Amino acid sequence: MTTPIAAPRRILLGITGGIAAYKSADLVRRLRQQGAEVQVVMTDAATRFVTPLTFQALSGRPVRYGLWDEAAEAAMGHIELARWADLVLVAPASADFLARLAAGRADDLLATLCLATEAPIWVAPAMNRLMWANAATCANVATLTGRGVQLLGPDCGSQACGETGPGRMLEPAAIVEALHAAEGAGALAGLHVVISAGPTREPLDPVRFISNRSSGKMGFAVAAAARDAGARVTLVSGPVSLPTPAGLRRIDVETAAQMYAAVHGAIGDADIYIGAAAVADYTPTCCASQKIKKTSDCLELSLHKAADILASVSALERRPFTVGFAAETNDVERHALGKLVRKHLDLIAANEVGTDRAFDREDNALLLLWPGGRRQLELKSKADLAREFIALVAERYRETPRCAVSPVPALV
Ligand code: PMT
Repeated sequence: MTTPIAAPRRILLGITGGIAAYKSADLVRRLRQQGAEVQVVMTDAATRFVTPLTFQALSGRPVRYGLWDEAAEAAMGHIELARWADLVLVAPASADFLARLAAGRADDLLATLCLATEAPIWVAPAMNRLMWANAATCANVATLTGRGVQLLGPDCGSQACGETGPGRMLEPAAIVEALHAAEGAGALAGLHVVISAGPTREPLDPVRFISNRSSGKMGFAVAAAARDAGARVTLVSGPVSLPTPAGLRRIDVETAAQMYAAVHGAIGDADIYIGAAAVADYTPTCCASQKIKKTSDCLELSLHKAADILASVSALERRPFTVGFAAETNDVERHALGKLVRKHLDLIAANEVGTDRAFDREDNALLLLWPGGRRQLELKSKADLAREFIALVAERYRETPRCAVSPVPALV
């Protein structure tokens, strides 16, 4: 049975000595593409097959290999490393490493980390077919799986030694696939989450529009975090220059009206809606068919209210759990509570915005408010913040009784 893991974002990748170590370079690349942080730890034997520099370049972090490396120990000691990991993945795992792990040895950094971590341990064995079939290896594998270590593979096929049989390391793509499958045990597993992100553009003429400073970074981080929690995610995005996080469906729109239509087109079977987009409150009454000319000193624009997507979703007869954002420059909590009440939301995430905060920044802070509760999430990277936010959304989703319209909370 696969060990359930909650979206491992911090993966400690152990690489042991074997020709399959070259495949681990591809594995690091793929894991990072999925948004994981990867810390590589190599055994002495592994460094003889592939240089640590290769993994340092691919992972973006210095590789750890020495138990007695003073500089590295000062930076992040082996116990800290063991605590840091959400998952310890050893690929390739040699016969010798499996034996040492089964015996509970602490004779190098990787083995010590495995003893000291509370994170799940997964191993992808790679060795000659006869070594794999040897009674000693079989006994070690049985001991390890009996303790909850997850076995990935090995694959069957032609081996580097020229023989054919079981013992090949599972392909990196298959290992990543196994991780995704295990994430199905996440806090939002089985749920459909629709998220809106980014700005909208309201055209004035063929070349000009009214918009705002939203980059989409917050909403995209929330979408990735919801995916990592096991949700099926539909991301409705205004015009941004961000790559689509892997594994989710993205619908691109420009205007508030298009975003309204796209959200309502996707919301039918949604369990949760999160409105992280900075949608226009007002849109030009008409859009000139040709470029507006500079003919007078003063130009008056006529704007009318844009439909409120969030309020319209929460008013649906079969409403999803509805989460709004509040972007405020002042009186953050008071204004956010007002929106929570007026728009009949289950939860609102308030952020203080300005030219130097929230919009188009890598970090943010959120005040989460819901009927009868509040939680402050301090300033941190939007990726980390989104993970904490999604954990709270999942908690509130589970604890909120499903009803047509959520109870209106009292203003405090
Ligand atoms: O994209 P980034 O650069 O990372 O910046 C992130 C962010 C600051 C844009 C984000 O964290 C945020 O606060 N998003 C909501 C911005 C906003 O429009 O807030 P608001 O207080 O004006 O609107 C309240 C809520 O109503 C929001 O959930 C908004 O999506 C929704 N709304 C507003 C107007 C409208 N016509 N339809 C809506 O659904």
